[in-house]
Amino acid sequence: MILAIESSCDDSSVAIMKASDFSLIHYEKISQEKEHAKYGGVVPELAARLHTAALPAVILRAKEHFSALKAIAVTNEPGLSVSLLPGIVAAKALSTALNLPLISVNHLVGHIYSLFLSEPIKLPLGVLLVSGGHTMILGISENGVISVLGATSDDSFGESFDKSAKMLGLGYPGGPQIQNLALKGDDRAYDFSLPLKGTKRLEYSFSGLKNQVRLACLELENSRIPYSVIPRLDRGISSENSKIPSKNSRIPSKNSRISSQQKANIAASFERVACLHIIDRLKLAFSSQKWARFGVVGGASANLRLRSMLESFCASYDCELLFAPLEYCSDNAVMIARAAVTKYHNKDFCGSLEMHPRSSLENLKII
Ligand code: KG4
Ligand code: ZN
Repeated sequence: MILAIESSCDDSSVAIMKASDFSLIHYEKISQEKEHAKYGGVVPELAARLHTAALPAVILRAKEHFSALKAIAVTNEPGLSVSLLPGIVAAKALSTALNLPLISVNHLVGHIYSLFLSEPIKLPLGVLLVSGGHTMILGISENGVISVLGATSDDSFGESFDKSAKMLGLGYPGGPQIQNLALKGDDRAYDFSLPLKGTKRLEYSFSGLKNQVRLACLELENSRIPYSVIPRLDRGISSENSKIPSKNSRIPSKNSRISSQQKANIAASFERVACLHIIDRLKLAFSSQKWARFGVVGGASANLRLRSMLESFCASYDCELLFAPLEYCSDNAVMIARAAVTKYHNKDFCGSLEMHPRSSLENLKII
């Protein structure tokens, strides 16, 4: 059995997986969401303290399996350095105490492995990774080599939900909040412009869309400025010759002048365009790639509108669509354990375990 630790952001998680058949023997995850929600986003110092407090207890609750362990795995890249560190320290301590080898796992490779928890690995494969920290289109070759075909140049998909939710005075994490509120809204109420429309650049950009949400909130807060005079960002009208409030204009935290229906309309219009942007760039990717299978992973792949749009999209290309099980879309140690089992079979252990908070995926192998 392999024990895996995941602590790259705001979840302290431990899983134990049987190396012979990938069966899950033990799993626990302590989410810090409630603590970070008070601040509207992840506070790194708080995350570090909460991991340091939670991990020893979470690990000890797996103690009955210690004698069956063959290796200790841990996420060592990428992530918040202050969050990665407590996991790495715990893994090193366990490996020393139990005299077991260490396996390092890239968090994003872990997300890819969430597709293979109950399914065999079939390659080649196209992958969309949508999380709070990343938005990427990946190609995985027959022999498992990962190529990054496109990524976001600013905010990630999940981050744009988190930040829009914050502007609307909703809770954290913003993804589920926006998704639920959007169900009650009119997704055509706001004509937000599609990012990178008409360009041939295979990349994502969510900061302009997020800014359109900010301006829509400001307009409602300050009804002197009709929404219609707020320029479409893709038309390139500078803020100097318009009546837009400056970038630093404060949005009152309670959004007291924005009704629940108006918030729902903004949420629905935002979600529609954010998902359309994902699909629009995938069309570009599919114009040069012939994928028979396409997987979607990461916390934000739980978004139901995105899932249904991807289903129609992949069906139109006669491409098999794979999703991770909903409970393993967000960060968890099970996907890390699954990735580690492959490394264990390849005898891919690490002597000195280093932390790489900003590592890339380019040219990594998944098998
Ligand atoms: O993969 P993950 O758990 O953590 C990172 O590695 O970043 O992803 C968390 C992100 C957050 O930004 C969260 O708001 C987003 O996933 N998310 C969603 C949904 N559920 C979670 N975004 C959109 N719709 C959802 N239903
Ligand atoms: Zn993640």
